[in-house]
Amino acid sequence: MASSSRFALFFLVALFSLSALLCRSPVAADEQEDEADPGLVMNFYKDSCPQAEEIIREQARLLYKRHKNTAFSWIRNIFHDCAVQSCDASLLLDSTRRELSEKETDRSFGMRNFRYLEDIKEAVERECPGVVSCADILVLSAREGVVSLGGPFIPLKTGRRDGRKSRAEILEQYLPDHNESMSVVLERFAAIGIDTPGVVALLGAHSVGRTHCVKLVHRLYPEVDPNLNPDHVPHMLHKCPDPIPDPKAVQYVRNDRGTPMIFDNNYYRNILDNKGLLIVDHQLATDKRTKPFVKKMAKSNDFFFKEFSRAFTILSENNPLTGNHRLLQITFLHRMYALTLTMIPFFSTGTKGEIRKQCNMANKLH
Ligand code: HEM
Ligand SMILES: *[C@@H]1O[C@H](CO)[C@@H](O)[C@H](O)[C@H]1NC(C)=O
Repeated sequence: MASSSRFALFFLVALFSLSALLCRSPVAADEQEDEADPGLVMNFYKDSCPQAEEIIREQARLLYKRHKNTAFSWIRNIFHDCAVQSCDASLLLDSTRRELSEKETDRSFGMRNFRYLEDIKEAVERECPGVVSCADILVLSAREGVVSLGGPFIPLKTGRRDGRKSRAEILEQYLPDHNESMSVVLERFAAIGIDTPGVVALLGAHSVGRTHCVKLVHRLYPEVDPNLNPDHVPHMLHKCPDPIPDPKAVQYVRNDRGTPMIFDNNYYRNILDNKGLLIVDHQLATDKRTKPFVKKMAKSNDFFFKEFSRAFTILSENNPLTGNHRLLQITFLHRMYALTLTMIPFFSTGTKGEIRKQCNMANKLH
């Protein structure tokens, strides 16, 4: 290292320690630790962007009015982002020249409406540039999606930061497939702290939205799966007339024919009635570990909502990247920091990830 840059680094470290001293308030030791990395907390943006959650709510409401099915996407997003390693918005990243990203693989088939999430991000950026992470926007929009469709309001913590990488090849080790055995499904969720009633409740998200024929034809051709309710089969055959669906034609079946736009416990009555579309849906209603909870949720929407909210919260807190955003918001010597933003990763050890400027791309490093 040239001596001038060594001096610069020394100067920065000195500056940094000085301001750390100046900013220290007389609080208990454990609170000071919190200040270094508060982790996830309620209303994380209360000082840095007090209106953040309200902007997200408002935008989600407006977007839902115009494009109802974007609410399904927001709900599915939280599963595909948070269950895969970390709630770090890696789901939203585009592929790079070197790396195929998560959203572009077969397991993510049918994921859509990412541009509306980008709209929310833009609205937040207009008020508070560079402050609110895509990971938090993804999680909070999923919450708004649930509310828009008539589900429960779930209080959630914030403070997630954005990852810089998305790797398609890790998807399969985290996300169960549509025909996975219940043992594998329960195992995968248990690994992130979600128990059996929690899994049963989360799959209740299949009370809304759609499933493309590519995920269903193996239950219809060459023979109809005898486990399917015969009353439901003609409808499925009508919607999926070809054993090998034309990949360009958008052919799908609604997950819940009865109340497709309402987030409710009708899903459980459907699967008990052998009208579950996916193999995993059907198995949820037949496996002896899950069936008792399916029955309970079919009877009580309150019990479904309570368990869903609990499991959704655990999912939303899976292994987040956290750190002190406030590092960048100290007004004292703010300009100095602005000059040295790119140096911060060297000496702010507790902070992981970044606040992406655009949700589909990691920030450029200089
Ligand atoms: C064992 C676990 C799961 C499996 C195997 C699974 C699989 C699938 C599949 C194959 C589709 C159809 C996609 C398409 O054809 O467009 C789908 C849709 C959906 N999934 Fe799941 N899922 C699981 C768990 C979850 C969880 C935990 C949530 C959210 C909490 C969720 C939310 C949704 C939603 C909302 C849709 C409808 C999406 C739309 O209409 O665009 N799923 N899921
Ligand atoms: C599950 O379905 C996929 C196709 O989507 C297929 O390749 C795989 O073999 C199936 N697995 C099982 C266990 O049936």
